[in-house]
Amino acid sequence: MAESQQSGGAGKRPRRVVSGMRPTGQLHLGHLLGALRGWVELQDEAECLFFIADWHALTTGYEDTSNVAASGREMLADWLAAGLDPEKAVLFRQSAVKEHAELHLLLSMIVPTPWLIRNPTIKEQARELGLIQGDDEAEMNQINYGLLGYPILQSADVLIYRATQVPVGVDQVPHLELMREVARRFNRLYRKVFPEPKHLLTESPKIPGTDGRKMSKSYGNAVFLSDSAEQVEKKLGRMITDPRRARRTDPGDPADCPAFNLHRVYCTEDEIATVTEGCKTAGIGCLDCKKIMIKHVNAELEPIRERRAELVDKPGYLGEVLEAGNAKAREVAQSTMVDVRNAMGLE
Ligand code: TRP
Ligand code: SF4
Repeated sequence: MAESQQSGGAGKRPRRVVSGMRPTGQLHLGHLLGALRGWVELQDEAECLFFIADWHALTTGYEDTSNVAASGREMLADWLAAGLDPEKAVLFRQSAVKEHAELHLLLSMIVPTPWLIRNPTIKEQARELGLIQGDDEAEMNQINYGLLGYPILQSADVLIYRATQVPVGVDQVPHLELMREVARRFNRLYRKVFPEPKHLLTESPKIPGTDGRKMSKSYGNAVFLSDSAEQVEKKLGRMITDPRRARRTDPGDPADCPAFNLHRVYCTEDEIATVTEGCKTAGIGCLDCKKIMIKHVNAELEPIRERRAELVDKPGYLGEVLEAGNAKAREVAQSTMVDVRNAMGLE
């Protein structure tokens, strides 16, 4: 994990880590490599709180809410299967800790709207949802109040635990910057209640989906943690490669091959050298080349798959994990809110 520029000597101080994921159902390789692996490491190094961001899911998925609860449970099963341990990290559900909503409301009083309107992720999201076409400011009025306030809710999620570090993907860096501005503004207006949280960036490169686009459930290009070994082999066997290798005899370049991003993550140095040589000289076929990497992917997924299957047999267990996590999170959140209300003259 690479720490953000602002980190200074923060590595030595006691750390409290907070992060969340919107419940999108079954998690895929992108989640594992981009976030979960890092979270699993962090739970041994710092006090960690990880939550299911179900309110955030509603900022875009408010029309059909029938899947929110089930998706949250699926995601929790994946978290546990991937190695998150409720004995080490607090695992909870955002909507079970109502204090997030109270802090969101109070912070919304001190956030100037231009901070939200200039947020680059909102336009991107709105564009993806088809709410806006171009870059037109006038079209921003298609965006709901809740979606506009997304980063304020996210700020509340983190600040309420006085977190010092937040592991996120690069796309979330603008939200972390905004979060620090919100904390600074609160501390200056009232009194110092919040540390300014730093982002922890995952070092792993972006993992494309099987079609070369960003891996996403909605694109149908994802390899899920719960996929069988055969499914993984089939999906990755068909994954797009360097288009110059249209025929087996055409040489290619791993640098232009989406599948090679997975080799980079999973293969040994020797394998990388063999593959690179074989690709550039057309000495190896793409399927054989991918098989070298698929073997490693399946080796990592196998124990995750097994643990997940065990969890599915214990439906009550997931509920217990959340109940316990919710209670622990609530305790910390409530104590911060006493300070917040005092600082704002509300207690
Ligand atoms: N916005 C994050 C994402 O889409 C999810 C999230 C919500 C989050 N609240 C958070 C991440 C607080 C870190 C901290 O990935
Ligand atoms: Fe990609 Fe390997 Fe095919 Fe080269 S040989 S294009 S690295 S799959």
